[in-house]
Amino acid sequence: MSEKKPFERLPKDVTPTNYKLQLQPDLEKFTFDGSVDITVQVQYATSQITTNSVDIKISKAVFKSGGKDIESSEITFKPEDEKVTLTFASELPVGEGHLCLEFTGELNDKMKGFYRSNYTTPSGEKRVCAVTQFEATDARRAFPCWDEPAVKATFDVTLVVPKDRVALSNMNVTSDNASPDNADLRVVAFAQTPIMSTYLLAFIVGEFDYVEGKSSDGVLVRVYTPLGRKEQGDFALEVAVKTLPFYKDYFNIGFPLPKIDLIAIPDFAAGAMENWGLVTYRETALLVDPKNSSSASKQWVALVVGHELAHQWFGNLVTMEWWTHLWLNEGFASWIEYLCVDHCFPEYDIWTQFLTTDYTRALGLDALSTSHPIEVPVGHPDEVDEIFDLISYCKGSSVIRMLHDFIGDAAFRKGMNAYLTKHKYKNTQTEDLWRALGEASGKPIEEIMSSWTKQMGFPVIKVSAAAQEGNSRKITIEQAKFCADGPISGESPQWMVPVSIATSAKPNEAASKVVLDKPSLTVTLDVEPNQWVKVNPGTMGFYRVQYSPEMLEALLPGIRSQELAPRDRLGIESDLFALAKAGQASTVDVLKVIEAFVNEKNYTVWTEISTNLYTLGNLLSNTESKDLFKAFATKLFTQVYEHVSWNPKDGEDHLTALLRGLVVRVMGKNGHPHAVEEARKRFKAHCSGGEKIHADLRAPVYVTVLANGNEETFEEMLKYFRTQELHEEKERVLRSLGSIKDPALIQRVLEFSLTDEVRSQDTVFVIGGVTGHKEGKELAWKFVQDKWSSLHERYSGGFLLSRLVQTTTEGFVSEEKALEVEAFFKEHKAPAAERTIKQSLENIRLNKAWLARDAASIHQWLKTKAE
Ligand code: BES
Ligand code: ZN
Repeated sequence: MSEKKPFERLPKDVTPTNYKLQLQPDLEKFTFDGSVDITVQVQYATSQITTNSVDIKISKAVFKSGGKDIESSEITFKPEDEKVTLTFASELPVGEGHLCLEFTGELNDKMKGFYRSNYTTPSGEKRVCAVTQFEATDARRAFPCWDEPAVKATFDVTLVVPKDRVALSNMNVTSDNASPDNADLRVVAFAQTPIMSTYLLAFIVGEFDYVEGKSSDGVLVRVYTPLGRKEQGDFALEVAVKTLPFYKDYFNIGFPLPKIDLIAIPDFAAGAMENWGLVTYRETALLVDPKNSSSASKQWVALVVGHELAHQWFGNLVTMEWWTHLWLNEGFASWIEYLCVDHCFPEYDIWTQFLTTDYTRALGLDALSTSHPIEVPVGHPDEVDEIFDLISYCKGSSVIRMLHDFIGDAAFRKGMNAYLTKHKYKNTQTEDLWRALGEASGKPIEEIMSSWTKQMGFPVIKVSAAAQEGNSRKITIEQAKFCADGPISGESPQWMVPVSIATSAKPNEAASKVVLDKPSLTVTLDVEPNQWVKVNPGTMGFYRVQYSPEMLEALLPGIRSQELAPRDRLGIESDLFALAKAGQASTVDVLKVIEAFVNEKNYTVWTEISTNLYTLGNLLSNTESKDLFKAFATKLFTQVYEHVSWNPKDGEDHLTALLRGLVVRVMGKNGHPHAVEEARKRFKAHCSGGEKIHADLRAPVYVTVLANGNEETFEEMLKYFRTQELHEEKERVLRSLGSIKDPALIQRVLEFSLTDEVRSQDTVFVIGGVTGHKEGKELAWKFVQDKWSSLHERYSGGFLLSRLVQTTTEGFVSEEKALEVEAFFKEHKAPAAERTIKQSLENIRLNKAWLARDAASIHQWLKTKAE
């Protein structure tokens, strides 16, 4: 980044208040024509206007004011800055004026700006629709604009479209007439938007069906689906109709628009996008087919709908002032989506699942020295792309969860309402939220929270106990930065840490709550001699806990007896595993603790354990312990495998369904004979017109048969893929293909990922699927290097490329590989992946050190287990 010249935001001498925007996409030539009349305020006399514009040809620029037209004398594009400067023949008068532009652009295939997406009609015709994705900085690819979140304006959108197509935008339609110039076209005008940021604007032209409903607070909700599949929108509609009043009630502010549409787009880079009033989704994040969708997919749809609808208030009504505060949007939405799903589907126990989807993932990344603070200075669009990462999303949501727990729901809601009311239609910085929550709770929120958002990382809390005195015990807690490579050397940064402590008398309640605002603190607890003490009940605080050996020992019976709640069992395991990885505990000791989980029945606890075992399996995949470790894993899972069995029982709950999928997958991948045999039998029937595999078991079965399969299996899987319509089903196959072990077939999977049969949005899953085992990891990395220029071009930088770099590099375990990765990216620049590359390198070297430290003792121990 050092070579780049400093990034500059747009000058403020001319600013827009309204855009009258007309666009006419050509769905055959893949181009669009546009014109825009921007009402601007000229603050200081100037003869130049600079705005954002990328890959657009401006054919005409006129400034109109007080009945006078001033033509532009020069139009200068600065592609590397994504800006255009319009120079006018004379000085523009101060005050209000109109900047009128005519322009053309390409409907690109890069899933950004105004782009085209391919679909096949029910009668088999191939067509394209035109859609938008503007966040973070791509509105400028559709029309010249002040493309910064703080430059809010109103928009009057008009679309000129083929007469038989659906045209949608943020607002409701106000007129829809045949074009006076061309009988094949319609002119569709939309109501003026509220004042809003450019990245939230959207328009879509295509063919869709829809289902509709009305929420109890009177908002018209439609879910748009591909033609002929409208019933697949029913589930999302049900969620949306429940969610809108939930948020209205939670924020105590009504939904500000008359309608909201949720629409599935066949080619879509992210999961979903919160455009105000017109939310776009990947098909897999919106559509549910009652017969063929898994429980996991339904849950995902509910979370994504909950997330994007939350943005309608938090993000759209009140918007971050600059991308440095992106986390406000994403961290908050990633937290409240759980609150919303917990409200709609209490049986999902979604808050426990939060721990594996957000919390432990964030802790994992944030322990690296190459992490970054939640609030991070960003300028150039490449740097903006880079922060749509686990820190903004998952650490963001985790620190909000900690804060919500600390001040309680009533104060939190009061503060939210004050914040949204005070700043509606405007922009904010992180401090504005802290101020509102501080006033509502009467607590020093800004002081506490700044320590979490302005510095990277988090602490490990060391806990020790003094000798018992009657019915009381002194507990000492100490904080120091948790580092992935071992105890911090030198002075540690400090956090203001809300710490709760529970005892076995009341395992789910805090016996003591303190804010650890210095290096260490001693509290005296009322606790009987035989009772245990647990720090961080509910696993609410964003930190790791390291107990003294005696305190840890005392907690283990609570795991076996399940007297400790699932979130606490999970937290203990997760902390220990992280400590082992960082060389602060022995891996063998952790494996011994993991053995205490044989009776475990909780889905999320098993998810965490299986993730950790996968990490360890990867580490050991090049060693003599490989098979012993597989045997250890299958033995550990045997009891729960027998417990869930293969066949769902009538009326079974959601979490048992998820648990079965997880357990079958683990057993199948590790080659457990019964699981492999059962999977083969079911797969054969499934593909040959026999009994269909239950949707929850399909991915585990595909992975199992492929991991234990040959060319014939592979061909059968491909053949099956080609007959499938539902994108969810196709994605299941795509993600599973890479489980095949034969190097020649792995190579075929990799080549397949770049063919026309795989959408660009899914290529990354196919390549990522290959990295789950030793045979594939090398080949995937080689493939990425060989095809680098086409991959780079396919995603033109972007976050999918970063994700690809991450999955194909971070699992390596040797210095040799680290050097190879380093050398490659020295030659091949990937600006939006720079930080990801550094993180991968750090991970590779941590793996290497971990293996060197613990491989021998792990092997010894595993051998004793096998005897
Ligand atoms: N605002 C994002 C969409 C986005 C992501 C735009 C990356 C630009 C770059 C949206 O609200 C979002 O966060 N989507 C998530 C899904 C969500 C449920 C976590 C996504 O796309 O992964
Ligand atoms: Zn979001």
